[in-house]
Amino acid sequence: MLLEGKKGIIFGALDERSIAWRVALKAKEAGASFTLTNAPVALRMGGINELAEICNTSVIPADATKVEDLENLFTQSMEQLGGKIDFVLHSIGMSPNVRKKRGYTDLKYEWLEKTLDVSAVSFHKVIQTAYKMEAINDWGSVLGLSYIAAQKVFPDYGDMADAKSLLESIARSFGYHYGVRNKVRINTISQSPTITTAGSGVKGFDVFFDYAEKMSPLGNADGDSCADYCVFMFSDMSRMITMQNLYNDGGFSSMGMNPALVADKLAENT
Ligand SMILES: NC(=O)c1ccc[n+]([C@@H]2O[C@H](COP(=O)([O-])OP(=O)(O)OC[C@H]3O[C@@H](n4cnc5c(N)ncnc54)[C@H](O)[C@@H]3O)[C@@H](O)[C@H]2O)c1
Repeated sequence: MLLEGKKGIIFGALDERSIAWRVALKAKEAGASFTLTNAPVALRMGGINELAEICNTSVIPADATKVEDLENLFTQSMEQLGGKIDFVLHSIGMSPNVRKKRGYTDLKYEWLEKTLDVSAVSFHKVIQTAYKMEAINDWGSVLGLSYIAAQKVFPDYGDMADAKSLLESIARSFGYHYGVRNKVRINTISQSPTITTAGSGVKGFDVFFDYAEKMSPLGNADGDSCADYCVFMFSDMSRMITMQNLYNDGGFSSMGMNPALVADKLAENT
């Protein structure tokens, strides 16, 4: 019961494969109470109400790019949960360029703006809204979800790579300000490729899923392992960790070459 008595807000559960969905189930198991939220358009597509029932909570619609929606979300969440918030999960990503297969050398700039707003600037908006409303308790914990394309080139990840770099930078920059004022911690978790709606939307996803699976000594980290890490990061056990990008990737980020991949190639050629 690592999260007993803690109150949270979880963004981004679309269906049961969503990382946020896995986090909600584990946070519930760990004793937390929280509200769920997603963009109004997503609420019509997914099964988030089913998750709300399992978690004995409610869904508050909010487009994470709209500050007035976020203000309403924090107000209503504090009312429903009976006090300030202890943890927030930002599990949001979307690129129109990636969706519509516009490669990195042919970006449509209006869509790039949308990518950055939805996938990165919304993280700043969530945190700044909470900061101004004084909505998060001292020693609270805020998490965003990132991907290693922020550090290394994965050509088909397109403009999402730039969005993830910005997301990680916001965690550091706001981590300073919120840390000084309220000891609130802000981190990102850099997750292995995971089969979800957002993940599978990237061109060639199955290829880099298999590649990462073979390259990582522990194999790919799944959504449930990410959820366990999130629970730990929301808990007081991780109270001195802030402004970090933390890898939940089975060791992928430290690998240069894995002989298992070479062995596969040799087997293919014989
Ligand atoms: N799946 C992967 O391979 C992988 C790997 C590393 C990091 N991530 C990151 O994990 C996070 C969650 O993605 P997922 O893989 O669970 O996919 P998902 O498609 O289940 O979740 C993405 C969520 O973002 C929400 N969203 C989009 N626009 C929004 C807006 N304007 N306001 C509020 N919510 C909005 C969607 O409705 C959806 O619920 C994303 O940040 C993603 O980039 C995913």
